[in-house]
Amino acid sequence: MLKNFWYAVEFAHAVTRAPKKVTCLGQDFVLYRKRDGSVVCLSDLCVHRGAALSAGTLVEDRIACPYHGWEYGPDGACTKIPANPEGRGIPKKARVDSYPVLEKYGMVWAFLGDLPEEERPPIPHFPEHEDPAFRAVYVEMVIDANYERTFENVVDAAHTPFVHGTRFGNPDKPQIPDYEITQDEWSAAADILLSPPPAKGLWKRLYKERPEEVMVTNGWYLPNIVKLHVRLPFGDMILYDHNVPLDRHRTLVKIVGYRNFFTGKWADPDARKRIRSILLQDKPVVESQRPELLPYDLPDELHLRSDSLQVAYRRRRQQLMAEGWWVGDDETAAGGPRGSATVIPSP
Ligand code: FES
Ligand code: CO
Repeated sequence: MLKNFWYAVEFAHAVTRAPKKVTCLGQDFVLYRKRDGSVVCLSDLCVHRGAALSAGTLVEDRIACPYHGWEYGPDGACTKIPANPEGRGIPKKARVDSYPVLEKYGMVWAFLGDLPEEERPPIPHFPEHEDPAFRAVYVEMVIDANYERTFENVVDAAHTPFVHGTRFGNPDKPQIPDYEITQDEWSAAADILLSPPPAKGLWKRLYKERPEEVMVTNGWYLPNIVKLHVRLPFGDMILYDHNVPLDRHRTLVKIVGYRNFFTGKWADPDARKRIRSILLQDKPVVESQRPELLPYDLPDELHLRSDSLQVAYRRRRQQLMAEGWWVGDDETAAGGPRGSATVIPSP
């Protein structure tokens, strides 16, 4: 898992004045909104006896532990220990880790690492979010597989006609033409010409004329996001697929999908249902992959030209591993004594 990145850990609409537990990189966090609306992210482990703060309650902008009522402020410092007699101070060590938070694109992003602000890799730019022509839907699903397997699956154009059949592939034309990758430090993308689904069912109603090919822009943003932009004859569908590593073997896939067709609210449940049913087709295949973790050394698995976007990811990951960006064995993103509650075995 990659530390020192911003992770979109929750949909913004799911974070309220009720404390909310989220998990990322094998560690639990509590999110809540202050009275001014800004979001707080703290370690979810009370330093007194380890109760989950997320089961507690808010007192103004502080969170009170459900076990003995210790209160922590947004900076993580304990401000009240109810059992202490009058006049007794609060130990300096009575604090939990507090993480930088940003709210962007309908997501709450937490910086799970130790880099100073100016050295942190950027949050990618999602232009559709500000474009009034687009409407967003939010979908999530837990997949029992490592996040790099679920991440690579979305980058993989060649699985579409096999796993999704005519849902959005064309089984009669599974070829992937060679494509060029544009890459920078934190992202890579490619325009891939694919054969669209045959004119049957829903597609028959949507096509005026079935095109020979549709342009799909597929790409990844580190640490865990895949963008899929499908240019259909009747409009654009863009999926931002966040593969949140719950732990080594479980991934919370959180999708923010945008479309500029069927832009009425009435179409949201249908869009969510379609995205979910596609994820359900991917789930068993990705959960069957072995080894469960992507191999650590290159050359690893057998690659074709059509796998170039995945290979670009694996190369970049290899570099970052060599530069110490990888959270390994006994280390977690947050570091420190609280963070090391999760011990990750060697690969
Ligand atoms: Fe949190 Fe005791 S465990 S106050
Ligand atoms: Co798929």
